[in-house]
Amino acid sequence: MNSNPERPPPVRLPELLKGQKALVTGANSGIGKATAIALGRSGADVVVNYATDRPAAEAVVAEIEAHGVHAYAHQADVSREDQVVDMVATMVDRLGTIDILVANAGLQRDAPTAEMTLAQWEKVISVNLTGQFLCAREAIKEFLRRGVVPEVSRAAGKVICMSSVHQTIPWGGHVNYASSKGGVAMLTQTLAQEFAPHKIRVNAIAPGAIKTPINRAAWQTPEARDSLLRLIPYGRVGTPLDIANAAVVLVSDLCDYVVGTTLYVDGGMTLFPGFATGG
Ligand code: BGC
Repeated sequence: MNSNPERPPPVRLPELLKGQKALVTGANSGIGKATAIALGRSGADVVVNYATDRPAAEAVVAEIEAHGVHAYAHQADVSREDQVVDMVATMVDRLGTIDILVANAGLQRDAPTAEMTLAQWEKVISVNLTGQFLCAREAIKEFLRRGVVPEVSRAAGKVICMSSVHQTIPWGGHVNYASSKGGVAMLTQTLAQEFAPHKIRVNAIAPGAIKTPINRAAWQTPEARDSLLRLIPYGRVGTPLDIANAAVVLVSDLCDYVVGTTLYVDGGMTLFPGFATGG
């Protein structure tokens, strides 16, 4: 048993997603990497999408294949329609179909609003929001074509949109990022509503502060970490595995009746911790 409270135990259910084909975007690092590995550990074949850093993506592929499933790396910028169309078509070609999409790729380009450039605004919206739309659209086309295969899953397909606590918590100095995640919340609900009758389950995960390269400044120094911990009632910064474990369960048939919801995995960050002693 793993006794380190900072390191949650991985889900180890090799049969849970057996035979399913998963695409994880932005899977060369952070939450995407941990999720891709966790899906493989649970029996899925996995496409490891990355925008840059092929060696990192190949290392993730090797970790996944150690679980006896298939994996390969595919470079694509999720904000580019042609590249997304090609990525999903290639996956259908190589693996036969797609059962699971984790639309995870995302980035930050922070600036006080008065200084934020249009390029910073557009970059974040196009990767975080348009990228999720494009990937979901292409995956859903294949889900609709194929329909339910009862031996594989009760659903015709599952999408997880990687959101953030900032789909509800306003975030000064990050207006592009918070707006993109607010958009992801409505993207998730609208897709879920539109495609539930086709047995397609679309849900979101909203991570809180997770130790990844995207927010290194927020946890790297002891001072930054202390001030971050004041925002987290559960008393620790999250790990990529916290999100990966939740993703495995959410895409599995254990959650077959979970449709259009956002699962907050945030140690209580959205519970207005300031009000525990104030207000
Ligand atoms: C952001 C992180 C931030 C966390 C909590 C995430 O969505 O990417 O930079 O630490 O939210 O504020």
